[in-house]
Amino acid sequence: MLRPREVVRTLPSYHPPLAGRDGLRLDFNENTVGCSPRVLERLRQLGPEDLARYPEREPVETIVADFLGIEPAELLLTNGVDEAIHLLCQTYLEAGDEALIIVPTYSMYRIYMMAAGAEVISVAASTDFHFPSEELHHRITQRTRLIAIANPNNPTGTIAPPDELLRIARSAPTAAVLVDEAYFEFCGQTLLTKFRELPNLFVTRTFSKAYGMAGLRLGVLVGDAGQMRAVRRVSSPYNVNAVALACLPAALADQGNIQQYVRDVLQARTRLERALEASGIPFWPSSANFVLARVGSTQAAAVFVEHMRRRGILVRDRSSDHGCEGCVRITLGPRDHADCLLAALQETIGDLHVAQGASRP
Ligand SMILES: Cc1ncc(COP(=O)(O)O)c(C=O)c1O
Repeated sequence: MLRPREVVRTLPSYHPPLAGRDGLRLDFNENTVGCSPRVLERLRQLGPEDLARYPEREPVETIVADFLGIEPAELLLTNGVDEAIHLLCQTYLEAGDEALIIVPTYSMYRIYMMAAGAEVISVAASTDFHFPSEELHHRITQRTRLIAIANPNNPTGTIAPPDELLRIARSAPTAAVLVDEAYFEFCGQTLLTKFRELPNLFVTRTFSKAYGMAGLRLGVLVGDAGQMRAVRRVSSPYNVNAVALACLPAALADQGNIQQYVRDVLQARTRLERALEASGIPFWPSSANFVLARVGSTQAAAVFVEHMRRRGILVRDRSSDHGCEGCVRITLGPRDHADCLLAALQETIGDLHVAQGASRP
């Protein structure tokens, strides 16, 4: 039996519950209706030739750079944002370096940081999940080499003010600062071009959420051209597959589809937040396509998720995340999906009240 590296043996394993996801999938923050029809049309046009050749990333990177208003040298297309995080860790972290995250947050930051041999320092958000700017600031040391911040954050949906993020980047000039904008389309706030003032700043975007292409695995890492040269050295030249590259221009060309989807999701989010408020269920106002709500104890969250599942709605139990005991995360989709969600929510709340009443002495 081979012996994995020491850090690998201590890595937490992240097993997202992907099996048997039958029903309305409001558990992974995906687009609940799928990608633009133009992407499907492009897929149908692909032939054996397209799959036989190694994928060529650069022409599509030029299209994406145009779309984002930056130079091709300032971005790298990646196999989802996950790969971008991995590449940043591989590029900037030596064993024993410090890497900072805020908890709760997206699980993969910790895993890739640890895998690179870094010491991960977790800074806890306050109970209202506000961005812990001062605490983060105080934890920056000479050894800090990477700081990863999801903005809006997952699973809380909360967002940090741009000035505070820039202040962190300024106070850690020898650390790579990643602002992960996976949910950018749902809030519109971005630091995309701020790397021009702060060359240690990186921004990521994904096509897994608003664009409905999580299965194709497409992300973008944006940063200073000099830094990006270093990151590109670590990356495989074929990291993004030919099918994904062929589809990406079609996805970008259909901005009408994205804008409509975002409008629908924001309406649904307001409806859900109102329903939670009316039912007395605490939640955190969200800037993303999901809402985190506290339905009770850790056990109550598990029961809630199960009751929703029986009604055909999948939502995610986040109880094991730092500070999220008894919390569930609910992804929003357009009106008809919101109708199903809200109907199931009302019934489930009714059930759980009955169940609580029944268990009283
Ligand atoms: C904050 C954040 N970053 C990155 C990802 C992963 O994105 P991708 O599918 O592009 O790897 C997620 C997925 O949930 C996320 O919430």
